[in-house]
Amino acid sequence: MEKLVVYGGKPLKGKVAVSGSKNASLPILTAALLTDEKCVIEGVPNLRDITTMIRILRNFGMKVIQDGHRVSIDPCKYTSTEAPYKLVSTMRASFCVLGPLLGKHKKAKVSLPGGCVIGPRPVDLHLKGLRALGAKIDVEGGYVLAKTRGLRGTSIYLGGSFGSSVLGTANVLMAAVLAKGRTVIENAACEPELVDLAHVLLKMGAKIQGHGTPMLIVDGVRKLGGFKHRVIPDRIEAGTFLLAAAITNSELTITGARPDHMGAVLDKLREVGVQVQVRDTTMIVRKGNPSKYRSVDVVTLPYPGFPTDMQAQMMALLCRTPGISIITEKIYPDRYMHVAELGRMGAQIKMEGACAIIQGVDRLKGAPVMASDLRASAALVLAGLASKGTTEVHRLYHLDRGYDRVDQKLVALGASVHREKTD
Ligand code: EPU
Repeated sequence: MEKLVVYGGKPLKGKVAVSGSKNASLPILTAALLTDEKCVIEGVPNLRDITTMIRILRNFGMKVIQDGHRVSIDPCKYTSTEAPYKLVSTMRASFCVLGPLLGKHKKAKVSLPGGCVIGPRPVDLHLKGLRALGAKIDVEGGYVLAKTRGLRGTSIYLGGSFGSSVLGTANVLMAAVLAKGRTVIENAACEPELVDLAHVLLKMGAKIQGHGTPMLIVDGVRKLGGFKHRVIPDRIEAGTFLLAAAITNSELTITGARPDHMGAVLDKLREVGVQVQVRDTTMIVRKGNPSKYRSVDVVTLPYPGFPTDMQAQMMALLCRTPGISIITEKIYPDRYMHVAELGRMGAQIKMEGACAIIQGVDRLKGAPVMASDLRASAALVLAGLASKGTTEVHRLYHLDRGYDRVDQKLVALGASVHREKTD
């Protein structure tokens, strides 16, 4: 295992380019299951989760070549429609193979994803949508066994207690594109990653209307072709770098982003007092005066609300912002594993149910801390950059699941960080 050693207190400077989106790439990789023709995806970040998805596709017998940020998939030789526990359990996005397998091959055996450190993550909406389309689904021995004589379009309400589901919508959408007749999905996710998937499906010949809105209308087609597509930039990585600049009081230019996907984060940062200029795909954070930053309240919500995937990083900034800020997590009420670790660095945070009440402090102090999930580890790195002294972020593999070469990018910006092996 590895840890990241962060020597705090150094301002960042320069330009950083945003990588392609992990959460757009993952379902788009599974879209290749819907066709017999070649698919090419560009801008795919080099991450552990991507490698896992490629292993799952290869396990189906598909030929997948990863060359830098380009992934070519030749799907013609399937030998299996089974996604095993040992792969699915390491990454929930792999459950997204279910919809396309059912649509194209009329059967699938996919392991249930299992527990997750950010809280319970059920798949009831995925299964509800697929059943509504006519799939017969049984759960046996931890596996979902699904089959159909042919999916049929229908009306599906896809909202749960926490709103829409991103991967649930992706799964049902990918099944519906090959179903007979019209499917209407209400309370569909509107996240840019889902819209990017819809763009891929349109390139393949699918008939979809309403992507980017809560109502998707899909007219099934008999066959889909291959595609070539460049994935959208990662809005969470871009947001993490915005916060890296804000928390270290640095001037930073972030290029290759989609600020139009980041309205809630930009708005909240401006409310704090962080100056961000937006020019097309570039965002420039100006050096500010953190003692003049203002406390804010943040509520995570489905897109276009404030993303849960930025909650931990925002918390790191608010720990150093004067006054009392309140974060309410409405997507994953238990996604607060970083709170205790930030506390070890001197943060003052009290929990009340799904709300974190943060009293800003003048200074955080470096400490050894434990990463629990991907975004929590990003928050600890940000806190480390802004701390006095040295922070060691253990279990770095969490960070490597979602941030492409983040330590190299930080070093290029002048940060003093390096990886070390742990016992
Ligand atoms: N939910 C249900 N039933 C379902 C599915 C979801 O109740 O069948 C609930 C979840 O428990 C949660 C809410 O609905 O309370 C939203 O979950 P969603 O299904 O939208 O999450 P997801 O699609 O499994 C994706 C991202 C997550 C991100 C969430 C929310 C990918 C690969 N993952 O997960 O990203 O937090 O949407 O935006 O796209 C990350 O990148 O760090 C990450 C966790």
